Amino acid sequence: MVWFRGDPFLTGRQDAFVHEPDGLLICEDGRITAIGDHAALRGRLRAGVVPTHYPDHVISAGFVDTHVHYAQTGIIAAFGSRLDDWLDHYAFAEEQRFADARYAAGTASAFCDELLRNGTTTALAFCTVHPQSVDALFREASRRGLRIAAGKVLMDRDAPDALLDTVRSGYEDSAALIARWHGKGRNLYAITPRFAPTSTPEQLEAAGALWREHPGTLVHTHVSESTDEVARVRSLFPDRSGYLDVYDHYGLLGPRAVLAHGVHLGGRERARCSETGTALSHCPTSNLFLGSGLFRVRDAKDPARPVRVGLGTDVGAGTSFSMLATMNEAHKVAKLTGYPLDAVEAFHLATRGGAQAMGLEGTVGSLEPGHEADFVVLDPKATPLLARRTARAEDVEELLFVLAVLGDDRAVRATYVAGALAHDRDAPSSAAPA
Ligand code: GUN
Ligand code: ZN
Repeated sequence: MVWFRGDPFLTGRQDAFVHEPDGLLICEDGRITAIGDHAALRGRLRAGVVPTHYPDHVISAGFVDTHVHYAQTGIIAAFGSRLDDWLDHYAFAEEQRFADARYAAGTASAFCDELLRNGTTTALAFCTVHPQSVDALFREASRRGLRIAAGKVLMDRDAPDALLDTVRSGYEDSAALIARWHGKGRNLYAITPRFAPTSTPEQLEAAGALWREHPGTLVHTHVSESTDEVARVRSLFPDRSGYLDVYDHYGLLGPRAVLAHGVHLGGRERARCSETGTALSHCPTSNLFLGSGLFRVRDAKDPARPVRVGLGTDVGAGTSFSMLATMNEAHKVAKLTGYPLDAVEAFHLATRGGAQAMGLEGTVGSLEPGHEADFVVLDPKATPLLARRTARAEDVEELLFVLAVLGDDRAVRATYVAGALAHDRDAPSSAAPA
């Protein structure tokens, strides 16, 4: 069993990272009540309780995907050039189909199954402009026991008419969805302006007001993903000092605000994220697929002014639902910026770091007692190559590194949400509702 008590970017990893080679994890009523050495803890099991045994597997906190578009599941791997072309040709075309609640329900179901197959138990997701797209996702997530934060896209300019709302309808539809879903079961609402180019100043103002009126909700948007986009925001908002300052001006920064990408943020902007508690979602497979640029994770995690950082798959511009595959690409991106990212750091970003980004630290993202019992069972022998390579791993760090570099959904043996088995790779039908 591996999990985090602290942040390995900020403290010595001895304090932050915990490895229990022969572990026992005890859950009750959906929460972890004890974790530790099997021999020491065995006596705490209630009479008649037989633990599920996963010999030679790795158990980690469930993965936290801090940025994903459920409505783009059907267009993953669409050949395109850069961000604006890709949006026009694929994303905006597909998102129009979510006016149909049945289409939304079908995609939401496939999306939630994909999360579980990949060991992801918490996700922060974009829906589309249509309120029914949000209903569909929360319904399917609730059936499976997933922890999802999501919201309707706010977008009142510069997109196809069928995808536009207005300042007023965007505000009212979001408020109604908050009343319907926020804090119901494990669902959380995220106020979701798509990004500064597709919202008028008035809509951003309304989004800020909505957030102030509903503390506890999240804010979810994109920032500084591509250089073209940064230039566009400069010309649309000439009175602001930069892209981040647009969101700052409209009251959209703070704890539980998660901005995807941040590839081209400058040092002052990163410092402002740190100061305000604003989180960045690092989406390496997407940044490489669209050629957007290289996120500087170590600059963001500078101990002098650390930013909360999680990993995001950003499907459909991202190319995998697997957080293992995402860690692999994050490692390579970090290397290209001059600093490798090791396995302990990558697993932190994919679990506790993501929880921190979403304001869920202490709730999910770790196996410490008191956390919700969301965990993933990883199989180091999932494929012949994994088996061959992990057999030579000399310590747990090397094992985790090989799992991240070679692993994907095949390496996810089982996924548990709130203490219940929700995905069993080897069961005949894998989507057992929680
Ligand atoms: N920026 C605004 N919308 C999107 C989107 O759907 N995907 C990505 N990758 N970037 C965006
Ligand atoms: Zn995105």
